[in-house]
Amino acid sequence: MLATNEHEYSRMDTRRLNSLTDFSRDLLLRDGAMLRFRALRPGDRGVLKDLLSRCSPGSIRYRFLHSIKALPEKTFDQLAQVEGSRVVTLVVIQGEGADERIIAVGQYHALEDRPDVAEVSFLVEDAMQRRGIGTLLLDLLAEIAREHGVNRFSADVLADNHVMLSVFRKAGYALSKSEQATLVHAAVQYRER
Ligand SMILES: CC(C)(COP(=O)(O)OP(=O)(O)OC[C@H]1O[C@@H](n2cnc3c(N)ncnc32)[C@H](O)[C@@H]1OP(=O)(O)O)[C@@H](O)C(=O)NCCC(=O)NCCS
Repeated sequence: MLATNEHEYSRMDTRRLNSLTDFSRDLLLRDGAMLRFRALRPGDRGVLKDLLSRCSPGSIRYRFLHSIKALPEKTFDQLAQVEGSRVVTLVVIQGEGADERIIAVGQYHALEDRPDVAEVSFLVEDAMQRRGIGTLLLDLLAEIAREHGVNRFSADVLADNHVMLSVFRKAGYALSKSEQATLVHAAVQYRER
């Protein structure tokens, strides 16, 4: 599907948009495990729900910035959203065929009125955290975003989410106090390609 703001995106190469929905890359974790990082597909909704069901309340709280008992369908729809190069959702796959499962999801969401600026978010299931997956997802999303003219990433992170803050800090993000005391604002400006 093409981006809604067709005027802003008219200069985009249709070939690149098509290849985005087919995006897939096998990456090696530092512990030797090989995982597939690919674009979310329409048929992934069920397995994406399975991922959420395996995440702890703490991880869900960090992802959505507050505790949630049952995820509203609207919030899930946002997590599963894909819209050209404006909303890009990557998933990380473990296993093959019937054993395939989504163990992480990362998304950037470019703003309607500022297509060069995107909010970014991640969720790695608890059992797979701290193996480098979040960092790889951030790198891949940044690579895709920059190829499509999105040069600024930002995120609001709960102030006690030290792991996410560490990932952002290592990636060169500036961290600043948010208006809400419980949140830290993370942002980076990439060089235009
Ligand atoms: C935050 C999250 C996405 C990070 O992904 P991840 O795959 O676990 O992160 P990585 O393994 O790439 O990096 C973790 C980094 O955290 C740091 N870290 C690890 N343990 C830490 C601790 N106890 N305190 C502070 N920092 C810590 C390290 O710098 C580590 O990087 P290194 O192993 O290269 O040194 C993931 O943990 C997650 O999904 N958490 C719950 C949801 C969430 O917080 N989403 C973010 C909302 S924007």
